[in-house]
Amino acid sequence: MPGSPVMAAQLAANLAAAGKRRYRLRCINMEPKYFTELCEAKSPYDSSLVLNLQGTFKERLPEILKLVDTHPTLFFLDPFGYKGMEWEAISQLAQRSARAKTELIINFNVGKVDRDAGWLDSYGQSAAPAFVQSLNELFGVDLWQQIIYSGLPKAQRDDELTELYANRLGEAFRGIAAWYPVRTVRGQLKYYVLHVTSHRRGCREMGDVLYRVDHDYEAEKERAEAASPRTLALFPELEAVSPRENEADLVSRLAEDIYGLGKQRKQLTFGALQDGLCVRWFAEAVERHYRRACQQLIRQRRIDRDKETGIEEKSVLRFV
Ligand SMILES: C[S@@+](CC[C@H](N)C(=O)[O-])C[C@H]1O[C@@H](n2cnc3c(N)ncnc32)[C@H](O)[C@@H]1O
Repeated sequence: MPGSPVMAAQLAANLAAAGKRRYRLRCINMEPKYFTELCEAKSPYDSSLVLNLQGTFKERLPEILKLVDTHPTLFFLDPFGYKGMEWEAISQLAQRSARAKTELIINFNVGKVDRDAGWLDSYGQSAAPAFVQSLNELFGVDLWQQIIYSGLPKAQRDDELTELYANRLGEAFRGIAAWYPVRTVRGQLKYYVLHVTSHRRGCREMGDVLYRVDHDYEAEKERAEAASPRTLALFPELEAVSPRENEADLVSRLAEDIYGLGKQRKQLTFGALQDGLCVRWFAEAVERHYRRACQQLIRQRRIDRDKETGIEEKSVLRFV
């Protein structure tokens, strides 16, 4: 499989070759360790589309900010672990977002964050202060420590650490941060992908993209299960993955959330309703689910509307 820098370069090359867009996609890659390999993988691509810089994100950030100037920029931070994406660097992107379109995709390795956070209560261990400081630098605050001290089970701790980080990003960017779990084909959490955008519509669009990825993942999982059913059954209690919820159940659950929001606001457009729920239903529900849920609420007379069809972005829905 080509890595993401090669996929992005290929996309940039395809867009340039098609010549249909008014914009150009430029890729700027930073790599401290495998720089020669990165340059080799990128050698077929035009230098006007791809620029490789040796060094860490933080080291090259001032130069990158000058290079991208005020062009719309998507930053993709995907280190191993979390070193190099300290809050100080993220704040510079947040400041930029006030004057230029700035979106962010972050690989948030909550497993490593939680493991390192475990050093918090290991008194007298010489390595502990360095881990605690790294996490303070990642979050930019020490609020994560309350989550670690709270004695929650692991899965809940992972959720709360991710939510804390995402909320901080949302505030710093004065926008929306949503998170999505990336799992192994056996269903175990690998890391969270966080998406940050200042535009209310951005979250919905990225949710749609990830919904499609999630469904490719389901197909891949089924292929893996068919290919090696015995390996999967070896530790059933570890490997068991709950089956995907069927669409009718998902729509019913979504309808309840829509109704909760609608009752508070009394009326809102179909678009505003999706914006209001896009973080909670990130990558789980897409427009067709929202439409079906609204149709269900119309049938139940909880939305006052004379027909179920024709619900569009600007349609105003009244909740009773
Ligand atoms: C998980 S891989 C990224 C893979 C790539 N995004 C892909 O999907 O193919 C992590 C890479 O980031 C590099 N890296 C780690 N810390 C970094 C930092 N602070 N700045 C820039 N690159 C870093 C590592 O050397 C490694 O090559």
